[in-house]
Amino acid sequence: MNTAESQFDKVAEEYDFVNALLNDYSFSLSNMFPEKGRALDIGCGSGLLVEKLASYYDEVIGIDISNEMLNLAKSKRQLTNTVYLNMNAEQLNFNEKFDFIVSRTTFHHLNDIPSVIQQMKELLNEEGRIVILDNVSEVETPPTYVYVLGAIQDFLPHCLKFGMKNAIRVFKHNTSKSWLEHLASDKYLSEQDYYDLYGKLLPGCQFYNMGWAMGVVWIK
Ligand SMILES: C[S@@+](CC[C@H](N)C(=O)[O-])C[C@H]1O[C@@H](n2cnc3c(N)ncnc32)[C@H](O)[C@@H]1O
Repeated sequence: MNTAESQFDKVAEEYDFVNALLNDYSFSLSNMFPEKGRALDIGCGSGLLVEKLASYYDEVIGIDISNEMLNLAKSKRQLTNTVYLNMNAEQLNFNEKFDFIVSRTTFHHLNDIPSVIQQMKELLNEEGRIVILDNVSEVETPPTYVYVLGAIQDFLPHCLKFGMKNAIRVFKHNTSKSWLEHLASDKYLSEQDYYDLYGKLLPGCQFYNMGWAMGVVWIK
């Protein structure tokens, strides 16, 4: 079993709860391919972005390697124009092309980004868009205490915004052994790494540095 697969299987339900509450999908949505068509979300998790894309596109396919995440997506966010598949991003296997290929906070789990980008480019229709958002950090793997301190700092604002019960649930997930172990195995690219790697793979792409994440937009 792939490490990311087993790690996300373990935390799926709480990850979904926390991300439904906190995640901001506006970058991916504000850079969408502007017409109807087919969209693909790579590393769709529990389908939070797929569900939003489904109100704009004719068909939205979400792929992920965690069955637990996919089960949540299918039970909570299955619509008539959405399809969820267990597929590894490293081996994209589709007969038809897409107008919009998006991925959010998944690329740091991939072993061979150049190969995945090449496959995405081949699967994209002319004038289609690739929009990738992933973590950026000058420290490849931030130490665990940084996440614990962050969770403590966020607790009060979360209480005020979401209520005490929800804030406790978010805090418990963010400081749980399974989640901290997962974060301790993450490896992030630096800002310069993004410019070097994605600038070469997606010539002419635009970069958006959001502090914790880097957004990359490329039009074919
Ligand atoms: C941090 S979650 C992000 C989920 C979703 N994109 C979101 O923003 O809510 C990363 C997801 O990538 C999936 N993943 C990791 N490696 C993958 C791979 N090689 N192929 C497909 N999905 C993968 C994990 O199972 C997990 O659901």
